[in-house]
Amino acid sequence: MLRRTFIKETCLAMAAGTALAGCRQGNADVPSQGRGGDAPGDRAEGRSAPLTDWETVRAQFVLNPDRIHLSSLFIASNPEPVRAAIDRYRRALDEDPVATLLAENGPRRGLALKAAAEYLDAEAGEIALTESTTMGLGLVYNGLRLGPGDEVLTTEHDYYVTHESLRLSCLRSGASLRKVALHPAGRPEAASADAMVEAVAGALRPETRVLAVTWVHSGSGLKLPLARIGKAVAAANAGRPEAERILFCVDGVHGFGVEDTGVAEMGCDFFVSGCHKWLFGPRGTGLVWGSPRAWRSSLPTIPSFIDGEAWEAWRDGEVPDGETTAARMSPGGFKAFEHQWALPEAFAFHSRIGRSRIAERTHALNGQLVEGLAATKGVRLHTPRDGSLRAGIACFSVEGMDPFEAAGRLNRRGVVATVTPYAQRYVRFAPSIRNLPSEIDKALAAVRELA
Ligand SMILES: Cc1ncc(COP(=O)(O)O)c(C=O)c1O
Repeated sequence: MLRRTFIKETCLAMAAGTALAGCRQGNADVPSQGRGGDAPGDRAEGRSAPLTDWETVRAQFVLNPDRIHLSSLFIASNPEPVRAAIDRYRRALDEDPVATLLAENGPRRGLALKAAAEYLDAEAGEIALTESTTMGLGLVYNGLRLGPGDEVLTTEHDYYVTHESLRLSCLRSGASLRKVALHPAGRPEAASADAMVEAVAGALRPETRVLAVTWVHSGSGLKLPLARIGKAVAAANAGRPEAERILFCVDGVHGFGVEDTGVAEMGCDFFVSGCHKWLFGPRGTGLVWGSPRAWRSSLPTIPSFIDGEAWEAWRDGEVPDGETTAARMSPGGFKAFEHQWALPEAFAFHSRIGRSRIAERTHALNGQLVEGLAATKGVRLHTPRDGSLRAGIACFSVEGMDPFEAAGRLNRRGVVATVTPYAQRYVRFAPSIRNLPSEIDKALAAVRELA
């Protein structure tokens, strides 16, 4: 009763009519999740038409045409509709920050959640918006309710962010952390789906509470058979009481925006990704999808600004009612709002092309690269040639050459390559829908010159 009175009074106190948008689901000075639906003036003429040819897709980017950009896994260049939306919202915020924030944040957040849910074949209420994969993984792993005697299982091949978040989480909770190898040491190219599933299934123990994996390894380009691993986890969970069930958590950043897969098909409990890599979304955006069970079994780390109950309970000197939800786990604080609000444009850009066409094209370009590298004398390929075990990343080394030296020489020849930030360093290419087959040929020619 008290809380309802408070909301009513606060809403009435807001002078501008537009500011009431912030009161719809939560608190007036905490811009809330909005209603969804398009606001007028959102879409410029032609920005919703299907994108059917790859030259037109490429023309949406202002990438320097003198360079071959094989670095999609690193940080996005934004296509035209995303750039235009960021500019539009930045201008509005600069012109009238308070009124713009109060009027726009609820609806715009709602649209971003709706677009993310449609893309992932999920529900908007199951998604928390974050600012990066790193933030999402940190929130999920820090939020685990673990204790001494519990175990967290991950793989030897995961990225720094997963390993470090889990190490810190276990340090706080007293749970133990174990790593399993999915393929022979130093030979990701020798991985097989059967062996990976067997390795994970065989490593699950009665005390295992969390399985943390990465969909596509940024250290090798290896893609995991998530659905089969999900089934192995479900089999291990069968018959366990809810409190003892394993949570299957995925760093999905290098599959998200590449693969034609929704979350239901992955069989995971938490799916974490940034939106500023393969999705070409605004920099500083990301998301966490969680099943209701996953959210329920977690604790927030950063106070939410969109969970009305948490905010109002604080004002009433009480403890919030109810279980953890995506809204309650959503990190509060003011954001780079113009970036978060432009997120729907990134999803719209992908849907204008089509998730399946993007997957097909990315796989074809990377296949061209992988086969070309495999056929180059003096080059060792570390990414599996089997198309079902890779996505958009190809890793290799040049015999007798330090990877930094090789990547440096490629960059000087105008081919943007990176080096894997792992103990085992490889040179790395990541082609995407903004590349052309002719660019892959040129990149391969540059590698042949090195080798
Ligand atoms: C597997 C993996 N996870 C997470 C990240 C970090 O992503 P973000 O920049 O969105 O935090 C990276 C970095 O490229 C990565 O390779």
